[in-house]
Amino acid sequence: LMLLLLWAVMGYLLGSVPFGIVVARVMGLGNLREIGSGNIGATNVLRTGSKPAAAATLILDAGKGALALLLARHFAGEDAAQIAAFAAMVGHCFPVWLKFEGGKGVATFLGILIALAWPVGLAACLAWLIGAGLSRMSSMGGLLSAAASSILVVLMGYGTGYLLCVLLTVIIFWRHRANIARIRAGTEPKIGQKK
Ligand code: G3P
Repeated sequence: LMLLLLWAVMGYLLGSVPFGIVVARVMGLGNLREIGSGNIGATNVLRTGSKPAAAATLILDAGKGALALLLARHFAGEDAAQIAAFAAMVGHCFPVWLKFEGGKGVATFLGILIALAWPVGLAACLAWLIGAGLSRMSSMGGLLSAAASSILVVLMGYGTGYLLCVLLTVIIFWRHRANIARIRAGTEPKIGQKK
């Protein structure tokens, strides 16, 4: 049990690194908190106008989720892996360094899914592309891929990941409360729009 707790702490610390803020600062794009939605994710980094910075944020935020899962899986097995992944998501969305006001979890979630079971991760990325492509809204892609993940993980034969997918989806929907309200009001900005 102590060991699982240790992996949870490791996952949380990895997940809580706000790469969007770091990338924006390092690349001289300013304080992400004062840009667009103020969110720390790749979607908001794109509102600085820098596609490379947005891509780097996407890869790093996804990578930290995948890394947390893979490290724990390698050293401590599947249970530790899923706990570390969940903790990484909590770390990204509720980082102690940012007074628990972190990101919305989509990139980290996709990274976790790819590491959990890459076919499911690939399918979730496809769901993101479909949702975001049709609506031109990043949030819609994230919400669709999250909602689809619990079904996909079972249908594709990785049922042991079901609970993790449900929990990650709940966090993503919770963190998108304001986006969901804007989608319903028809005021959610389209991808790349400055807002
Ligand atoms: O991945 C985050 C995205 O779904 C929404 O970000 O900045 O438009 O609120 P934002």
